[in-house]
Amino acid sequence: MTTASPAKWHLAHTTWFFETFVLARERWYRAFRPEFRELFNSYYMSVGVTLARPHRGLLTRPSLAEVMEYRAHVDLAMAAWFEHGAAQGRFVDGLDTVDADERALSAWIVELGLAHEEQHQELLLADVKHLLSQNPLLPAYVPAQPAAFGSAPKLRWHACAGGLVEIGHAATGHSAGARSNGHAAPEFAFDNETPRHRVHLEPFELASRPATNAEWLAFMEDRGYARPELWLSEGFETARTQGWAAPLYWIEREGRWHEFTLSGLRPLDLAAPVCHVSGFEADAFARWSDARLPTEFEWEHVAEKLSVRGRFSDTQRLHPERAPAGDDAPVQMFGDVWEWTSSDYAPYPRFEPWAGNLAEYNGKFMCNQRVLRGGSCATPSGHVRATYRNFFPLDARWQFSGVRLARDGA
Ligand SMILES: [Fe+2]
Repeated sequence: MTTASPAKWHLAHTTWFFETFVLARERWYRAFRPEFRELFNSYYMSVGVTLARPHRGLLTRPSLAEVMEYRAHVDLAMAAWFEHGAAQGRFVDGLDTVDADERALSAWIVELGLAHEEQHQELLLADVKHLLSQNPLLPAYVPAQPAAFGSAPKLRWHACAGGLVEIGHAATGHSAGARSNGHAAPEFAFDNETPRHRVHLEPFELASRPATNAEWLAFMEDRGYARPELWLSEGFETARTQGWAAPLYWIEREGRWHEFTLSGLRPLDLAAPVCHVSGFEADAFARWSDARLPTEFEWEHVAEKLSVRGRFSDTQRLHPERAPAGDDAPVQMFGDVWEWTSSDYAPYPRFEPWAGNLAEYNGKFMCNQRVLRGGSCATPSGHVRATYRNFFPLDARWQFSGVRLARDGA
């Protein structure tokens, strides 16, 4: 798959981020290998030449051992940066460092670098899963998990009155981040979550839990993949040309559905949330269900009242599991599966990308993608929040993506 990257590339690229955006500002820093500036640049045209994404898998050199040396080199330099840099105007070798404002900005970029690495930790798991799925042995990445029994809680509808609501994060870009150094620090947020602004919502209802594998099977048994009236035109064409007849990683063996997981192949858990469906499939499933996908604003309006608890990657289960019995509030809004929304990935009113090279982080991808919310079982714990916006093209299936239904309210 041309959109997947080798694990070695993820390891080097997340290190490259710190080297390029923090250490390269320091006159004392010596690059591990200057050629890496191009080799492990993902998409920052303002930094220089990039290696085409489909070619990342061709990097037989540097070796993994050299990439690990590169990481150790940058880790050591970052440790020195923390130890001396923030407190002193001068640094090793007696060279003047950048000025205090620059250093405050760098401190903020370190936080961004950590959030960036967390994003790649999830991408790495999704890419590893795809790679292992290509092996006929279907190897496991983590030990097998004990099977779960029981059924999913009955789907209920959570009613919301709507009205004029506030959406988005209150942070105001990296100038606010830089100012926060040493002062009252606002919670970190990506630029695409800002600014906070008003949105009008009509009354709506949100499903109490994500759709399950059992519900998806019913969609399939009702010829859901073969009925064009359920699909967006481009989605139906994509499903036809790609041969989609079930979610990615579903495998039928001797008349029974199984699912390839990071613990290997196992029988499909009918009560667990459906996972690895594209936005096109989620949209068709919602129409078949006499419902629709929530807008990202409906989703956030409900989620911001909930605590960010869920099954994230720190559990090492790395697969969505059945919803707990809930009270009145929706469950599994965070963790387990990313939830497709009907919202195009677009800038919020008065959106301003971060300054400089980092303007390329999010804004330039606001085209032909949909927003997903809530994080997944492969997302590092602490990475997401109610305002967090993930985004993928409608045909992407290799992320841990599922669907939560919505419908118009009375
Ligand atoms: Fe990256």
